[in-house]
Amino acid sequence: MPKFIISGQKPLKGEIAVGGAKNMALKVIPATILCVGKTIIKNLPNIEDVDKSLGLIVELGAKIERGKNFVEIDTTSINQTEFPTKLAGKFRTSVMFVGPTLVRLGEAKFPHPGGCVIGAGGRPIDLFLEGFKAFGAEIETTDKDYHIKAGEMHGAEYFFTTVSVTVTESLMMTATLIPGKTILRNCAMEPEIEALADYLNSQGAKIKGAGTATIEIEGVEKITAGECQIIPDRIEAGSFALLAAASHSEITITNCNPKHLLSLLSIFQKIGVPFEAGADFLKIMPAQNIKPYDIKTHEYPGFPTDLQSPYVVLMTQASGISLIQENIYDRRLLWTDMLSQMNANIIMCDPHRVVVSGPSKLYGKRIISPDIRAGIALVIAALIAKGITEIDNIYQIDRGYEKLDERLVAIGADIKRVE
Ligand code: EPU
Repeated sequence: MPKFIISGQKPLKGEIAVGGAKNMALKVIPATILCVGKTIIKNLPNIEDVDKSLGLIVELGAKIERGKNFVEIDTTSINQTEFPTKLAGKFRTSVMFVGPTLVRLGEAKFPHPGGCVIGAGGRPIDLFLEGFKAFGAEIETTDKDYHIKAGEMHGAEYFFTTVSVTVTESLMMTATLIPGKTILRNCAMEPEIEALADYLNSQGAKIKGAGTATIEIEGVEKITAGECQIIPDRIEAGSFALLAAASHSEITITNCNPKHLLSLLSIFQKIGVPFEAGADFLKIMPAQNIKPYDIKTHEYPGFPTDLQSPYVVLMTQASGISLIQENIYDRRLLWTDMLSQMNANIIMCDPHRVVVSGPSKLYGKRIISPDIRAGIALVIAALIAKGITEIDNIYQIDRGYEKLDERLVAIGADIKRVE
């Protein structure tokens, strides 16, 4: 298992570029099944989760050609309705292939999707199934897999009792090729959803309202193959901004869209982290004194759960007490135990809330990265800690951050990847 060895407290300065959004790439790859032909996806991040997604589309019959930051996917010969358990069972977004396969080939058989450890009960897919049922699909469930038959699918009205990013995207892309009108209410509003709809509309889909709580889709007979540009990864940009703030460094984050980070930047204004935001860059300047500030994670445009863990690290450096409330996932604060081992002063009130008292001097330790976002938070903690930190299971970090070590070395970090 590869690991990172990080020697902390090195001065960090310079520019760091953001890659394409993981959480858009993982939806656009399955969305190409909706068309027949060659689609080029540009600004594609070169990360583990994308590899798995491309692996699955090849198993379903597509041909791919990969370049440095792009892939061409030819979906002409997509012909498989059964997802291989070994691959699809390993990653959460394998479920994003179900809707497009259903409307293209009439059925899909797939295992319960795997994924990281942040949600209780194995991260349910009940809302996906409920949505497909609302479209008229028939679902058989065994203890091993799900088998869905399209039958005569039709447009439907569906209200999300829980706001969900991937289910919003899944039902939106599936409805693109379902006859009739679909209205989705209480939808997630993340920028990646709007970007996915923009891409589908540019190929002939009729989607209105993506990025708001109500999305209307008029089903069309087909969409064409073409080109898609992945938007910058706002979570990667936010992670680097939090690294700069926590380490009191001057770092310019390029190729990003600061408008997607308004919740974080409004907090920076309140806690005394100076920054300059342009159309496609964000420059963070060293703070004199970081004030504590409470957060509650929330669906977009609220504070993202995916930035909760690096924000906790920042709060260990603030002067005072902050309350962090995680509202989206049941197990996403458990990683803070690892930060406590590095000498952070953190009390867990219950699985959804921790109190952080700062400022704390952090010290290097041997730790394990439990999931992708806790992983980046531990890297940030290690970079500001005294001494050497060894982070195991960095596979979890590679899932979402392309060549993180190389990019951090370029701004002055002492970080080594040991195979
Ligand atoms: N949920 C259900 N039933 C379902 C689906 C979801 O109850 O069928 C629940 C979840 O258990 C959770 C809540 O709904 O409590 C919200 O989950 P959501 O479905 O929005 O999460 P997701 O779509 O699985 C995406 C991102 C996550 C990000 C969340 C919230 C992708 C691939 N993943 O997950 O990203 O944390 O939205 O913004 O888009 C990450 O990048 O590290 C990551 C976990």
